[in-house]
Amino acid sequence: MKIIVTGGAGFIGGNFVHYMIKKYPEYDIICLDKLTYAGNLETLEPVMDNPKFKFVKGDIADREFVYKLFEEEKPDIIVNFAAESHVDRSISDPGIFLQTNIIGTGVLLDACREYGIKRYHQVSTDEVYGDLPLDRPDLFFTETTPLHTSSPYSASKASADLLVLAYHRTFKIPVTISRCSNNYGPYHFPEKLIPLMIANCLNDKPLPVYGKGENVRDWLYVEDHCHAIDLIIHDGKVGEVYNIGGHNERTNLQVVETIIDALGKSRDLIQYVTDRPGHDMRYAIDPTKIHNELGWEPETKFDEGIKRTIDWYLNNKPWWEKIISGEYQNYYEKMYSGR
Ligand SMILES: NC(=O)c1ccc[n+]([C@@H]2O[C@H](COP(=O)([O-])OP(=O)(O)OC[C@H]3O[C@@H](n4cnc5c(N)ncnc54)[C@H](O)[C@@H]3O)[C@@H](O)[C@H]2O)c1
Repeated sequence: MKIIVTGGAGFIGGNFVHYMIKKYPEYDIICLDKLTYAGNLETLEPVMDNPKFKFVKGDIADREFVYKLFEEEKPDIIVNFAAESHVDRSISDPGIFLQTNIIGTGVLLDACREYGIKRYHQVSTDEVYGDLPLDRPDLFFTETTPLHTSSPYSASKASADLLVLAYHRTFKIPVTISRCSNNYGPYHFPEKLIPLMIANCLNDKPLPVYGKGENVRDWLYVEDHCHAIDLIIHDGKVGEVYNIGGHNERTNLQVVETIIDALGKSRDLIQYVTDRPGHDMRYAIDPTKIHNELGWEPETKFDEGIKRTIDWYLNNKPWWEKIISGEYQNYYEKMYSGR
């Protein structure tokens, strides 16, 4: 089995590469990544010399490049993680989100049409459903909840989902889509809530919290997400959407306080800042379908997962310190100039 993992130098894609290489040592895994600011080759360092792994630098929206890769590699499965993924960045500069998240997905689907594929899997997000009110804890997103996006990021992801489903219906491309809630765990870029708070806490810097910190997210340990995608690409039904979430709802403030307490710091570090425009209030996934059809359930509870994540950041300071200093961006040159 040969799998192209796009966006594998990012947070979830990187974790997925490690998960798959460990679980299926006989598979060939190719990571295709543009190495934007969010891509970090050091995440893949432990597998770089594995003969069953290959890294290819490129843009999923570059048609010529993608077609050539498909022609040469003849992959069986594509798992598309590659995306611009930061909501705040999509508010300040939406254009690149449309280019990568929509056009890039279209190019990958066209390549699947052209060269044939056993499975195309689109990694999507619960943000395509919009948000839920704080005063209705009984409500959850199911796979039939209408798409109702709030940010350029979520709108670009929803557009990509619609393209994927249209290519299935029109061209019979064997696709699946997963829509997952917020992930956390190792290799998470320190501009996102949890790693940012851990890094700032360790550096005794202020902890910026949007608004009153009451927005609720449904946190899933990244390995549980990888396991869900593994089940979907092998046993999921073609043409189907699967929601992935762990019933681990926390307000942003609760998350920040948990990190402060675990690191023995003062809650005075919290600094409330002006809220994000259009900030979604609550996300909450109903994962009944993937549980009933594929037997998936999250294995890591939030309290355990956050401890493991904090330990990882404590034990892997060079990884995130190089990101904060910007040094990680020289890594590709260092790794590849002599190869
Ligand atoms: N992080 C979450 O909590 C979360 C939750 C649900 C779904 N998702 C989805 O999962 C996927 C991965 O998210 P993440 O948090 O790991 O993102 P990330 O920003 O950490 O990583 C994205 C990766 O994609 C690469 N990339 C960007 N543009 C590219 C392009 N044009 N061509 C090739 N590579 C490109 C980047 O270099 C980076 O390595 C995204 O599609 C995101 O929408 C994320």
